[in-house]
Amino acid sequence: MNYYLPAVKNPNGKMLLIGLILIANSLSAAPLTESETRGKQLYMTGASPSGNVITAHIGLESTELPSTQVPCVSCHGEDGRGRPEGNIVPTNITFEYLALSYGHQHDNGRKHPAFTPDTFVRAISSGIDSASNRLDVAMPRYTLPDSDSADLIAYLKRLSSDADAGLTDTTIRLATLLPMQGSLADMGLAMKNILLAYFNEINAQGGIYNRKIQLDVTEYTSDSESTLKNVRRLLETESVFAMIAPFSSNIEQDILLLAERLGVPQIAPYTLFPEDKSSRSQFTFYLLPGLNNESRAMVDYAANELHLKNSQSLVISPENSYIRKVAKAIKKQSQMRGSGAVTHFVYSPSTFQPQALTAKLIKQMPDVIYFFGTSDELSVLLKSIETLKTKPYVFISSSLTNAKGVNEQFHDKIFLSSPAASQNQSNAEDFFRLIKQNNLSTHHLTAQAVTYSAAKLLVEGLQKTGRELSRKKLVQSIEHIYQFDTGLLPALSYGANRHIGSVDVSIVPALQSN
Ligand code: HEC
Repeated sequence: MNYYLPAVKNPNGKMLLIGLILIANSLSAAPLTESETRGKQLYMTGASPSGNVITAHIGLESTELPSTQVPCVSCHGEDGRGRPEGNIVPTNITFEYLALSYGHQHDNGRKHPAFTPDTFVRAISSGIDSASNRLDVAMPRYTLPDSDSADLIAYLKRLSSDADAGLTDTTIRLATLLPMQGSLADMGLAMKNILLAYFNEINAQGGIYNRKIQLDVTEYTSDSESTLKNVRRLLETESVFAMIAPFSSNIEQDILLLAERLGVPQIAPYTLFPEDKSSRSQFTFYLLPGLNNESRAMVDYAANELHLKNSQSLVISPENSYIRKVAKAIKKQSQMRGSGAVTHFVYSPSTFQPQALTAKLIKQMPDVIYFFGTSDELSVLLKSIETLKTKPYVFISSSLTNAKGVNEQFHDKIFLSSPAASQNQSNAEDFFRLIKQNNLSTHHLTAQAVTYSAAKLLVEGLQKTGRELSRKKLVQSIEHIYQFDTGLLPALSYGANRHIGSVDVSIVPALQSN
């Protein structure tokens, strides 16, 4: 089954065949060779791609560390030109610089002729330069196998021309993943159009530091295997700098792993299941809290506002591995709050019928129900509940279920959670102007607003980074974004350990929301 944010249903189920739009690859730099790629990994992470264990000795005490704790990049920088810190001045180690025929005299007086591959290897393994001077002990000594040294040299020869994929002096190439067929096609089209309209406007204003944004749209289908294959091909071979608002329902974990492995920033995947642990989402940034956070807020609400203690809670949901995690989050939070026992009733949508459900409810007599089905299934549930003497409280998420079928008799029983609203809606003007100017439909306002916010966040990150752009730098810039106002969502703040921009959840009686 598909989960998506609210107001995304396509009323007429129209089929739209848009096809794959691929923008011609206009990259100047050739892709890295295999050896250069291995060298890059070693340079960036300190880990040997061939699986060798590399240790480093550093400092006056010659302290031993795994090389992953002291990768070259941490001192010599992404561009290899060195990042002075205090008194320590790591030098420029791009190979063309090391190999300059007249050698170097460094600021600290150290003088040496051109490095060769042999003296280079000696420098990193024994800390002696090409004139046999001892290097400062701030430069670690590495136990580096020959094959790894060759890869590292290959990469250092390429380093100065190795801009991240998808980047030229005049373009930044982005990719998104959107449904284009079936019941979600209309929403996919609305999301695509708002991205195009916004990026066109940015480009018309001169782009970002003279780089124009290109957008590549790949098709999301309900066939996870083939969708993932498309995304893998796109990220591995098509030179994409970053992904913007990929629609990743049901494959969010696979796409996350792929983006993280390849170091491709993923800005605001369109999902209800953001990865909570920022250690697992170093290149991925989310906008909104997602169902896990919403469900924890539901449990808190039941404890704080409804004063439920030691109660019987029942999670009711269709089978779905992501919802299983939500049920787990509810159990954990209930345990923490001393709210009582939680059981999980998993149904198959085709057999979700009042009788079976009523039997279940009479047996269990829950005080609280956390319900994660569709709006139609909610009506079935409410019918069953009508027959009970004591009606339980029911929590639903606006991201999955609307409260249209809720009537007066449940007025104090049913609660609706949603991501908190924007504090400052006056800034939404830009969004509505863009829609009007481009004659865009407004059938999927929520999806359009979230996608637009994703694009604004990315552009803010790019602008903060400046001309010297790289994926790593973009990630760092976004991590410094604080209280960013898109006009449509609550203010977004990020940090090294915070990759979800807003975690605030609002919970209101469902009738009030109608
Ligand atoms: C903890 C910081 C640090 C790390 C990590 C580090 N270096 Fe260095 N490196 C230095 C410093 C500082 C110098 C300058 C030493 C001096 O001037 O005596 C240096 C010097 C060098 C030199 C000598 C250049 C010259 O012009 O004489 C080479 C080659 C070098 N590093 C390669 C590497 C490689 C390759 C790696 C990763 C495998 C690496 N370094 C990791 C700090 C570091």
